[in-house]
Order: sequence, then structure tokens, then C-alpha cells
Amino acid sequence: MGKGDHIILNHYEKLAKSFGEGPHCTMQDQVIRQKEIQFFTQEITRFCESKSKPSKILDVGCGNGYLLEVLEKSFPNYTLGGLEFSPHLFEIAKNRGLERAVVKQGDCREKEFWPHKVDLVITERVIINLLSWEEQSKAFQNIADLLHEGGLYLMSESFRTPWIQLNKGRKEMLMDEIPISPHNRYLSDKLSSVLDRMGLKEIEGIWPSNYLSTHFYLSRIFSGAVKPKGGVGKNTLFLEFFNEALPSGIGNFSPILFRVFKKVA
Ligand SMILES: C[S@@+](CC[C@H](N)C(=O)[O-])C[C@H]1O[C@@H](n2cnc3c(N)ncnc32)[C@H](O)[C@@H]1O
Repeated sequence: MGKGDHIILNHYEKLAKSFGEGPHCTMQDQVIRQKEIQFFTQEITRFCESKSKPSKILDVGCGNGYLLEVLEKSFPNYTLGGLEFSPHLFEIAKNRGLERAVVKQGDCREKEFWPHKVDLVITERVIINLLSWEEQSKAFQNIADLLHEGGLYLMSESFRTPWIQLNKGRKEMLMDEIPISPHNRYLSDKLSSVLDRMGLKEIEGIWPSNYLSTHFYLSRIFSGAVKPKGGVGKNTLFLEFFNEALPSGIGNFSPILFRVFKKVA
């Protein structure tokens, strides 16, 4: 157990009660949600196509099982698993009618938190829920140990440097800083070299890691700066238009980065 576990457990209990098995449960912004799904599915496809036998995929911190359900439909031949810490979200994931995915309650800070090795691990905004570097590095080491050599670790996690840049952009427009939530601890730029020492070598993804930067600039800075008093703030045609009109991955304004690591000997 960690020092901030009560914060995490209370936070996800509230979300479980408010959103149940829906896609909004841990992510209000559905552009981010959909882009995360695309990132994971295309990286899984690229990785698994190069394998001769079906792969074992584990979603660490699977929440209410929303992503697992999408993966189950997209990858009918693969073995899927999900680990979840919050008892409330675990119950929802267990009862959502997954046909093949095995869901277990557990803690990724515990050594050997999964009963067997896997080919691919996903974390979707999970490591940032561990509120000290000691706990985060334990989880990374456990993930590295769980992967077969040549296996892949796909992360969608938040980082401090782009968060600072995002708030610089907001300050220019006289907007308040977006704080880091009490249930999050963002990661540092030095992560790649630390993971390298654990045997997780960063490789180039199909998308650049800052893929969401354009969306973050548009949704967290630009739209607020031009919105007239009383205008609609969220899920606007404005946002839809500019997200389509502009290329993705411009600047460094997205705290959430998509990164890909390969387990080496
Ligand atoms: C952003 S949510 C993941 C969303 C999920 N993939 C989905 O499809 O909705 C992060 C999850 O990590 C879980 N988590 C937090 N600490 C954990 C730990 N130590 N071990 C395993 N899971 C943990 C949280 O309970 C939460 O469900």
C-alpha cells in the first residue's frame, strides 16, 4: 500500500458510482479517449502481425474495463487480461460481460502482480496514480519483469514538461493555470533513461509521442481565448473543425504522451 492510496480509492469510487461502465468514467474528453484507443490498437496490430503465435496482452489499471472490451472485439485471437486496484471499478469490469478477458483485482506495485509473463502491457493514465517516484519505479520494474524479451510496453501517461508549456500558453491568454489533480503525479523527462536501465528501450511509435498536442492547445487554450461570453465551452463544432483542419502533434502542449518501449535482454 502507498501513502496516497485513500486519495486514489476515494476518487475512483466516486467515478465508478457516477459513470459505471461508460467511456466517460475516467476520461471526460472523448477526443483523448478515442485517440488513446487508436494509439493502442494500431501499435498492437503492428506488434502482433510480426508474431507467429497469438499474443498475451495485459491492461494494467483496466478501470471499468472499457478499453478491454474494445480490445476484445478488435483482437479476437489474442489472450487478454486486466488488473484493477479499485474494488469498485474491478466489480464493474468483472460484470461487464467480457467474453475472454480475465480481470483480476491487484496492485501493480506488488512483485509478480500477474500469474504469468505476457507479450504486451498497456498503462492508460495509471502510473500517474502512484503518488511517489518510489512507487512509480516499482511499477515500471514489475512491468519490465513481466514482459517476455522482445515484448512491448505501451503507455499513455502524463508528463510535467508539457504541462508547464500548456500553462505558459494559458498565461499568455490570461487564463488560470490547470493544476495537477491530487490523485496524479506526473512523470519527468528523464523517464526514458531510467526505463532503459530496467530493460525497457524506447522505440519510435507509429504516432509521435506528442500526438495530442494540437488538441490540447485548441481545447485548453485557443477555444477558451476566443469564446465569447455565454458561448459553448466543450465538445464544440469549433473544436471538431480545428482538430480536422490542423495537423496533429504540433508543439508540446499535451501532458499526455503516447510512448512505446521494447523489452530487451
Ligand atoms: C485512468 S484509469 C484507466 C482507464 C481504463 N483503462 C479504462 O478503460 O477506462 C487508471 C486506473 O488505474 C488504476 N490503478 C491505480 N493504482 C493502481 C495500482 N497500484 N495497481 C493497479 N491499478 C491501479 C485505477 O484504479 C484506475 O482504474
